[in-house]
Amino acid sequence: MVDSHSNGHANGHSHDGHGHDEHGHKPDHIEVRVLRQDGPGQPSYWERHSVKYEADMNVISVLQRIAANAKNAEGKHVAPVAWDCNCLEEVCGACTMVINGKVRQACSALVDKLLSDNPAEIELQPMTKFPVVRDLAVDRTRLFSALSRVKAWVPVDGYYDMGAGPRYPAEDQETAYPLSQCMSCGCCVEACPQYTKVELERIEGETEEAYNARCKADYDRAFVGPHAISQAMLFNQHPTGKNIAGERLDALTAEGGLQVCGNAQNCVAVCPKLIPLTTSIARAGRATTLHVLKKWFGA
Ligand code: SF4
Ligand code: SF4
Ligand code: FES
Repeated sequence: MVDSHSNGHANGHSHDGHGHDEHGHKPDHIEVRVLRQDGPGQPSYWERHSVKYEADMNVISVLQRIAANAKNAEGKHVAPVAWDCNCLEEVCGACTMVINGKVRQACSALVDKLLSDNPAEIELQPMTKFPVVRDLAVDRTRLFSALSRVKAWVPVDGYYDMGAGPRYPAEDQETAYPLSQCMSCGCCVEACPQYTKVELERIEGETEEAYNARCKADYDRAFVGPHAISQAMLFNQHPTGKNIAGERLDALTAEGGLQVCGNAQNCVAVCPKLIPLTTSIARAGRATTLHVLKKWFGA
């Protein structure tokens, strides 16, 4: 449930010294509105913060100031806002959140740019397709679980030296490289209308292990997502990875597989790494059709 009572003023141009004005003057303070949640399954509520403007900030530096201050815009002490981050250079995907209505990485979201688009405020929300752990931090386990469903790896028997592998032809490298840039950030699944949130409530007295097993079973039935379809195509074209291509195609034709995709193409529009997801989806469509036909005819 979202509490809209504490929203304060609505979007619009700044009249009070906050935000960039129409002459491009720098503001004294940045108004930030954060959708908070105290824990998994708890109700969410908006909270306003005011952060002193500094040049060249990104959303992570804004969140760091908010955490250090631990007071809301009215000066009341509040628990520090929680968020995830790691690499700070748009490589790990951990800081993905919804910023001014658009899913993206907080570390590469520059404050000056955000304020020039909306001088009134910066609005931060957690991704909506994953269970919230706290505030802007979400549990992306399902994203990684999908990668294991499609066996998104090159199978090897051990870590001893097996000698040189087969050569990777240059033209294949060209199609593989863009797909290999996926950082499991979750933007594509956030935008996908077919990817709906799976969140299980804990049963009283249930162990962590039992809860995780129930979650995994549900994740494994739900839509695998465009990132995993694309990774399946990446590893199916790898000279060694293709040894288990059939197993990946089996996963893509099982419940929650490729057939769930409605081809809305929202995923490709939001991928920060510009991964050609719809091309991967089309390739997967052809490969799974062939795979199913071969299985029918016992080829
Ligand atoms: S495909 Fe793009 S949007 Fe999706 S998880 Fe990978 S990097 Fe993120
Ligand atoms: S093309 Fe498929 S995976 Fe991509 S957003 Fe649309 S339904 Fe989702
Ligand atoms: S912190 Fe790694 S992508 Fe933003």
